[in-house]
Amino acid sequence: MQYRADSAHNAPPDPEVMITLQPGESLQSAAARSGHDLSMPCGGQGRCGKCRVRFAENAPAPEGREGHFFSEAQLEAGWRLACTPRSAKEANVFLPPEVLVSSPHQIMMAGRGSQAHKTAPRVSKAFLSMNTPTADDSESDLLRIERAWHAAHPDRRKESLHVSLPLLQTLGARLRSQSFSGTAVVREGELLDFEEGDTADALYAVAFDLGTTTLAAALLDMRSGAVLASAAEMNPLITWGDDVISRITAAAGNSDTLKAMQAALLKKIARMLEAMAGEAGIALQHIYEIAFAGNTTMEHLLCGVDPAPLGQVPFVSAFSRSHRYAARHFGLPVHSEAECHVFPVIGGFVGGDTVAALLATDFDAGDGIRLLMDAGTNGELVLAHGDRLWAASTAAGPAFEGARISRGMRAARGAVEGVLFRENTVSLAVIGGGVPRGICGSGLIDLCGEMLRTGVLDKSGCMCSPEDGAPFPKSRLRYDRQGGVEFVLYSSESGDITVTQQDIRELQLGTAALRAGMTLLLRTAGLSPEDLDVLFIAGGFGSYIRMEHACRIGLIPEGLAPERVCIAGNAALSGVKWASVSTEACALADSLARRVMHIDLSTVPDFAETFVLATLFPDTEPDTL
Ligand code: FES
Repeated sequence: MQYRADSAHNAPPDPEVMITLQPGESLQSAAARSGHDLSMPCGGQGRCGKCRVRFAENAPAPEGREGHFFSEAQLEAGWRLACTPRSAKEANVFLPPEVLVSSPHQIMMAGRGSQAHKTAPRVSKAFLSMNTPTADDSESDLLRIERAWHAAHPDRRKESLHVSLPLLQTLGARLRSQSFSGTAVVREGELLDFEEGDTADALYAVAFDLGTTTLAAALLDMRSGAVLASAAEMNPLITWGDDVISRITAAAGNSDTLKAMQAALLKKIARMLEAMAGEAGIALQHIYEIAFAGNTTMEHLLCGVDPAPLGQVPFVSAFSRSHRYAARHFGLPVHSEAECHVFPVIGGFVGGDTVAALLATDFDAGDGIRLLMDAGTNGELVLAHGDRLWAASTAAGPAFEGARISRGMRAARGAVEGVLFRENTVSLAVIGGGVPRGICGSGLIDLCGEMLRTGVLDKSGCMCSPEDGAPFPKSRLRYDRQGGVEFVLYSSESGDITVTQQDIRELQLGTAALRAGMTLLLRTAGLSPEDLDVLFIAGGFGSYIRMEHACRIGLIPEGLAPERVCIAGNAALSGVKWASVSTEACALADSLARRVMHIDLSTVPDFAETFVLATLFPDTEPDTL
């Protein structure tokens, strides 16, 4: 992370995209017609103020909350919300990069355990060169293949091959046209294909981590487990909201929307498959296994299952065990007999991505009292003590991903990801190094930590009152248009980037949800935060935060030595990668999901009191600059 004084960010801004809006057309439709998906963080409810676009001409009259989100000057300049329903005249409209789903973004791909695990693939291949039948050797085609298969795989002599009816109907002709030689593809005793030529070395699997915000994937050699290519994209479901509740609300009881969401997701997955195959120089039909791990909602939407019951008490998922479907049911461009393996979920909102993170961190195999925390849009926690496992989810809110923050944004180009008060100025680390456009979760934590460190913020989360002539950094405080206090992070002629008191409250609530969740989960096991031996922080977010400030705001329990905090990176992707090439990992994932006891924190005694107490930042003595 490279910090620069706020006056030194002078790279040219990223170019905006311009589209033409037809009379009566919605901005979303006009953008889609031009090949762009718009990010709609609040699902187009007009609540977040993030879908900002600028009319070059014919700007319609401001409506709804546009007067709240934009200054007079901005309204005058044509700024409006893309989600406001209106009938506008024909106009050219500029779409800034932060409103485009496709704009470059920072996605954590590396994770703990990426390399360490052994493979045990479900699918095997062998090139078989067989004798043609004669009067003395007239056994059936399938037995002939089976005999050659056993010769190639002596360890599988007990395995009888079976075959699907469609393959059986064409097998004889294929054997003869290939002069009884070719590559047998076998999955757990089932002959999937008899490919022309020797393709025994071409045996691939793909692993997908379906995050709420991002999709990350890896293409692997099933025999060695080596990663041949990887891909990362924004989750296209952002168009229906940036948190799972917005998406559940959009899909609940609405089969057309549910189908549209599944189609958008599968289309993106297909594109990622094609991109990875192209990068690795492999044929898509040599991909035989795709493993998916996502939070519970994402797995429902992938499968086209109505997630409505997840949106209301008692938050019941449609499935909990892992399940397998033919990839052709999803229309994915891989081998026609490839299977999709969808990870098991633990319960409620604790989904397959958490199970995958447990796999990657060998969570079950470690010693001592271990806690895994994934601080995404929803916070997931898993505790291990002895041979027992407990899990819970907390409504951490999307502040850690820059959402519901007035100038918040995802960890994309232009996002402030680090803040340092030094030499009487604010130094910023900006993703991509250019002009700051907003602040992402790690930047907000850094700022909050710096404000606590210097006494700009007290332990209750209140900013000081602005005072004339106050020294730095209090000199950066001022009153906003509504009379609230805000901190000026970055000033420029095109507008300031500020962090408001309400933004601090959002972060405080998210942190409190995780702190309270940890305390209550530990209490359920008869433990307290001081008993913790290891804290794993999973998810991309954990890899970008400064430990010092994560402790200062209470995200990491007080007194936990830094060497006992383990940054696990994208552990979910690491876990699902392992499962894509190992039957043992799949079995372990199922067993872990079954063993973890899911706790609904809202039913734990003292939930409300613990949460309220956790909203206070830990005691820290402000120090000097
Ligand atoms: S205000 Fe338009 S998507 Fe939130």
